[in-house]
Amino acid sequence: MRNIQGSDRVCGVMGDPIQHTLSPFIHNTLAEAMNIPMVYVPFQVGEAQLEVALKGAHALGIRGLNVTMPHKKEVIRYTVGIDKKAELAQAVNTLVYTPEGYRGYNTDIGGLSRAMATNGIDCTGKKVAVIGSGGAAYAACLAVIDQAQAIYIYNRTREKAHRLKAHLEQVYKVPITVGSPDACEPVDIVIQTTRVGMGALEGQMPIAAEALLAHAKVAIDILYKPWETPFLKAAKANGLQTMNGFQMLYYQAVEAFELTQGCVLDKATEEAIKEKLLREL
Ligand code: ATR
Repeated sequence: MRNIQGSDRVCGVMGDPIQHTLSPFIHNTLAEAMNIPMVYVPFQVGEAQLEVALKGAHALGIRGLNVTMPHKKEVIRYTVGIDKKAELAQAVNTLVYTPEGYRGYNTDIGGLSRAMATNGIDCTGKKVAVIGSGGAAYAACLAVIDQAQAIYIYNRTREKAHRLKAHLEQVYKVPITVGSPDACEPVDIVIQTTRVGMGALEGQMPIAAEALLAHAKVAIDILYKPWETPFLKAAKANGLQTMNGFQMLYYQAVEAFELTQGCVLDKATEEAIKEKLLREL
């Protein structure tokens, strides 16, 4: 580890749990590659400590913070303002220091858009299915909604899917349907946003997946642990193009890094760092 200087910028990520985060690895690698004097550290912060942790972080002059589970919604009330995407997603994952307080951004949406674009996945005029209706599903819908011809939402709890549909329809005209897992619409692209396939749910398939994968051309999973979920394995077996969640994680981190460090990575650097991270993971 390099020596930390008194003039170094300090950034970090707040969440609970936080032990498994890859954000320090990504941000510190980006800083080193870009020659930016910054250190990025993990902070274990429980829900009851969020407000005081943010006040402390601001007092300490912490320049940028990422926020992850379970704080992405709650953190909004402690910001001095949020950007349009964060407002639409009703979630913030990046905080940038200002003298008045932290300003909130959502880079999950841009992260998924950039990951799709880099991997040649274009939603223009396509039918897109989103599995899930939690925070990640909001980000996934918003990442595709400007291009997609139609969006189909599948979720174990249909009421939550209807809430997501109603939320999006306040702003967008794209047809949105809450799909029935027993009669899936044929779609071009499937985006899996639930936790089904990881942790206690490892080895399991998400709702409607088999039927959706029978017709689609592209399958995206926001999970990256395991690297290949049963959902992506089944998609591969059916001959679909697949992408796991590491790409979304990487590009949301790049966008957060650009916001907090006030720089822009060129495409070649961005891809070279991604390849380096993939080799070292
Ligand atoms: P986040 O905001 O991080 O996306 P969330 O709001 O808890 O997390 O949403 C997680 C998603 O995974 C939801 O779509 C959830 O389905 P429900 O709305 O029915 O709860 C889905 N999910 C979680 N555990 C599941 C399980 N065992 N089977 C099916 N879906 C599950």
